[in-house]
Amino acid sequence: MTAGSGARTRSTRVPDRICANASWPGAPSRERIVCTSGPPPPRWCRPSTSRSDAGGGSLTATSGRPRPLEVAGTSRTGGHRCPRQVPRPTGRGRKEGVADPGDFSFERLRRRPDVEAPNLFAVDAADRLLLDTAADALTSAAPGEVVVIGDNYGGLTLGAAALYGVRGMRVHQDPVTAERALAANAAGSGLADAFESFDLVPGLVDGANVVLLRLPRSLDALAEVAQLVAAHASADVTVYAGGMVKHLTRAMNDVLLASFASVRAGLARQKARVLTVEGAAPEGRLGLPGDEAPADPAAPEGRFGRQSEWPRREYHADLGLWVCAHGAAFAGTSIDIGTRFLLTVLAAARPDARTAIDLGCGTGVIAASLARARPGIHVIATDQSAAAVASARETMLANGVADRVDVVRDDALSAQPASSAELIVVNPPFHIGAAVHAGAALKLFDDAARVLEPGGELWAVWNSHLGYRTPLERIVGPTTQVARNAKFTVTRSVRRNESSGR
Ligand SMILES: C[S@@+](CC[C@H](N)C(=O)[O-])C[C@H]1O[C@@H](n2cnc3c(N)ncnc32)[C@H](O)[C@@H]1O
Repeated sequence: MTAGSGARTRSTRVPDRICANASWPGAPSRERIVCTSGPPPPRWCRPSTSRSDAGGGSLTATSGRPRPLEVAGTSRTGGHRCPRQVPRPTGRGRKEGVADPGDFSFERLRRRPDVEAPNLFAVDAADRLLLDTAADALTSAAPGEVVVIGDNYGGLTLGAAALYGVRGMRVHQDPVTAERALAANAAGSGLADAFESFDLVPGLVDGANVVLLRLPRSLDALAEVAQLVAAHASADVTVYAGGMVKHLTRAMNDVLLASFASVRAGLARQKARVLTVEGAAPEGRLGLPGDEAPADPAAPEGRFGRQSEWPRREYHADLGLWVCAHGAAFAGTSIDIGTRFLLTVLAAARPDARTAIDLGCGTGVIAASLARARPGIHVIATDQSAAAVASARETMLANGVADRVDVVRDDALSAQPASSAELIVVNPPFHIGAAVHAGAALKLFDDAARVLEPGGELWAVWNSHLGYRTPLERIVGPTTQVARNAKFTVTRSVRRNESSGR
């Protein structure tokens, strides 16, 4: 069946079975999974059922599935019995493309180039619950029908490929670090050909029947994704939207219900939960005849065409600045209060600089302000986030400075040569994904120190309680306080000469 044709045969879901202590292939024993009545049990714990699969040919669920080398436990309801020992599947009878479970392990997935630390993981319970909940849909999906959005480091994409033989996946990840981690993990697992990376554009979801979505924390980010899927995926698309319970809010239901007819919450497992979302609502399907044009006829072409409300834009009269923002961009169309404080002293930052870098540019407020205030300057605005980069490009256009600001998606300053910059300005992140972690800021300081020329300046604004002055002194060079208010500190760090050591 071709993507987008709508109807297809799905295998029957096995309800409410309990498979005590079933384990994922390669799962450490401390992370044994108990299948409750929420998601169906992992496929290798289900009775053998024939199914018709338009994409993968006809096969039986048990003979065609990868199985754990060892599955402990017996049935507690419904007469279903999980064998204690399941033989390792041989090449014969395995669905084409389904990895030998011996080849794939969630434990081997890594986060690099993102910060790695003992308390930061590449795969979590939400990834596993999403894969379990969507097991039937993934198994019956034809190549090209599955889309993955928000995969952190590849657990979802590579899990779907290895455990369910899914191929032709289209994947969108906002941070370039996530994209690079997926690529590296895919190469390490021999699954690099199972997917392709996309921007958040209609082509990502065109005709898709199954969407695995890691719920973003921002409601605007969720709204943009939901609208895109409702507008361009197959009319009978099912979205499996999951996350850790502590990051989920009821407001997410409302956002999803603005674009879909139904949202069903599954049971929580290991502090994760999955929402099953169906029925793209007509009012959520943008671009259909009868849709209203956007209120602002001058709105720049959005990535979904004129009917889309993204990027949103707002004029800040006090600064004389337009700010454009896609849903996942930091601070949206508002101006962060730390950034606003930094702007009050920015004129003093290397006034003679011919070039400057806005590091972690978000919507591009700092880059646009610099370019507007200094007609001769050339600015590089860089961010790891696809939404930030798309937003910053629109911000530059809206403020008439696009010819002097290059916007690039990059992990820190990996594309910039050493000792090449006169001035770098940063409002550093303090989150890595959902976790508050100083490593995110320190990584940017490290790269700024590499890219600044000797005597070059790093201007940073930070929440005073974070105490970044000492690391800035150590990493970059002599650091002075430029301004401080009740909440924020602005510092100027001068890159020391190599000869004076770091
Ligand atoms: C606190 S926000 C500041 C955004 C913008 N400069 C402003 O002032 O509104 C930090 C930004 O850093 C970006 N960021 C985080 N880690 C990054 C990395 N490793 N490389 C590039 N950008 C990064 C985030 O995507 C986010 O846009």
